[in-house]
Amino acid sequence: MAAKFMTAHHKTGMFQLCPELGPGKKGMKINASGPEQLVGAWAKYYDRLAGHFLSQIGQRKFRTILEAGCGKGQLTIPLLRRVPNRVEMIAVDSSRGPYSGWLDELGKALRKTELGKRVRLIRSDAKRIRGVEDESVDIIVSNELLCDLPYDSQLEKALGEFYRILRPRGFMIHGEWSSSPAVEPQAFLVKHWPSWTPDQLFAIMRRVGFDKFQVTYFGTTIHFGYVNAIKELRGWGATETLLKRYDKLLKRKGIELPFEHVVQCQK
Ligand SMILES: C[S@@+](CC[C@H](N)C(=O)[O-])C[C@H]1O[C@@H](n2cnc3c(N)ncnc32)[C@H](O)[C@@H]1O
Repeated sequence: MAAKFMTAHHKTGMFQLCPELGPGKKGMKINASGPEQLVGAWAKYYDRLAGHFLSQIGQRKFRTILEAGCGKGQLTIPLLRRVPNRVEMIAVDSSRGPYSGWLDELGKALRKTELGKRVRLIRSDAKRIRGVEDESVDIIVSNELLCDLPYDSQLEKALGEFYRILRPRGFMIHGEWSSSPAVEPQAFLVKHWPSWTPDQLFAIMRRVGFDKFQVTYFGTTIHFGYVNAIKELRGWGATETLLKRYDKLLKRKGIELPFEHVVQCQK
């Protein structure tokens, strides 16, 4: 995933310094102030995201769900825990470059639990999914995959593949961190780039043949305290110079994840 750092004009971002959330929104902010809270905070975040995806899937009947760009299973595992046992999952990831080894990590995690029996792991590019037949999948999901397909042609190819493997009236749902901050930032932000807006996704999904497009917002965020913020920012490719320049601010404010837009449509 790409993150572009902006230090001028302090506009939109992958992470934003932490403005206070207003009353009534506290439950939507997960706290990761200290290092001991980091793993739990991410687990809680993805569990809630899985809940959000499933609430959008609603009463639809499904046996096979395919997750594209499953990574190391951040969303895969909470999804599997929440769906009925009869549901089988196909987890697809190219596991290359900065993500190399992620699919193996997921395989290892799954083998330690009963969940593994319900998952088929496929190492493949989402633009040409190997080993999945036409019209064989009921639901397709992804989180933070589309931003890794930054050109229209790449996105269109992947969406075309999703169209091929989905059964008629099959449903798909994709989450993306928003490129706009939820609250006006107080200082620098790390821009989440590229990020497809719902409008852009609507246009391309429609072109591919999808129907019944809708957008929802996942309004949960994580606040990372200083040490966690540095760790996360390094993971996103922040340079030491940038971290040094904003050290005081990071100490004071930490960082906060942007909200997600979640787009859904039907074949
Ligand atoms: C930012 S990670 C997101 C991982 C996970 N879905 C999550 O929500 O944390 C993007 C994932 O998409 C995978 N990916 C990127 N481009 C891909 C492609 N063309 N085909 C399949 N997987 C891809 C990467 O390998 C990586 O695991």
